[in-house]
Amino acid sequence: MNESFLELPLAVLLVQSPLAGEFFPTLGLPLPPGTMSPAAYFAALDNGVLEDLALERDSLVEQFTDYLLLLSTLGKGRTASRLESITILGGHDKSGRREDFSLTVRPGEIISLVGPTGSGKSRFLADIEWLAQGDSPTGRSLLIDGAPPDPGLRYAIDRKLVAQLSQNMNFVMDLSVEEFITMHAESRMVEDIPGVTRSIISLANELAGERFSPDTPVTSLSGGQSRALMIADTSCLSNSPIVLIDEIENAGIDRKRAVRTLVDKQKIVLMATHDPILALMGERRLVFKNGGIAAIITTSDAERANLKLFEEMDAKLGAVRNALRNGERIE
Ligand SMILES: Nc1ncnc2c1ncn2[C@@H]1O[C@H](COP(=O)(O)OP(=O)(O)O)[C@@H](O)[C@H]1O
Ligand SMILES: [Mg+2]
Repeated sequence: MNESFLELPLAVLLVQSPLAGEFFPTLGLPLPPGTMSPAAYFAALDNGVLEDLALERDSLVEQFTDYLLLLSTLGKGRTASRLESITILGGHDKSGRREDFSLTVRPGEIISLVGPTGSGKSRFLADIEWLAQGDSPTGRSLLIDGAPPDPGLRYAIDRKLVAQLSQNMNFVMDLSVEEFITMHAESRMVEDIPGVTRSIISLANELAGERFSPDTPVTSLSGGQSRALMIADTSCLSNSPIVLIDEIENAGIDRKRAVRTLVDKQKIVLMATHDPILALMGERRLVFKNGGIAAIITTSDAERANLKLFEEMDAKLGAVRNALRNGERIE
């Protein structure tokens, strides 16, 4: 826990940790004004009030820090373990034809989305991200654990159900990789910020083809490097149980490893892809046509056997690509 949280105005702290304010009434203390930091509040507490409540100033700071830490770990456990399934109920395609399906997905499963450009794959991911309730252009709706989700979840930043790995990472600030990840880790209130930052950067480096150092500016990362960084970041810092991936293939990273990294964390992964190796990683794949799901195919044993073959071919092609890059002859 970073001590500087004690210096933030309570209103800011409440955005990151909505239950933080419960600490004060629980102990019988008056609620600090939103503009005041907990540190200033504890320092200004009247001796008489402290005596009446049998509290000590110094241990209050410690208790409050522990309380915030507990909240951050509780939040993680709660979101991750509470979700047992998501169910997507069919809507209609672009021509208004009803989609006849209901799809239930559980943590650890990969579902791939295939279909030509414009067939509605990104739209489907957007329906999930928005927890659609028949109120998107497709008319689809989403159930969480078999029931419509709490409407507040759409806006709950701290309990976000869905993390999206989007096609382009636009970095707005010119920070170094280390500063960027540290900032994110701080906002997540993780305990060992330098340790987490280090492991995210090293995981990203394993996933990316070309290595980068912690002091590389984020704006000068290649597409593949920034994608690898976002995947490592999502897998280590996001407690969202659902991960959406839109077209990962052109990024020049260890795609299969990246997807495995996410699934190992018991997340639900929905992935739009044209890449046969990624598509066949899914237990099932949704076939999109004209904005609707035209079929749901379960990956067969024969297809899994083929996947092995494709992987060997891919490894060979990869070696050729490397050789080309190094100026060798391909003979
Ligand atoms: N069921 C639908 N009803 C109406 N519009 C749709 C539907 N599905 C997709 N669209 C729209 O069609 C366009 C192409 O879909 P998109 O999801 O971007 O395709 P893809 O990602 O497969 O290339 C988008 O503007 C999207 O909003
Ligand atoms: Mg798309």
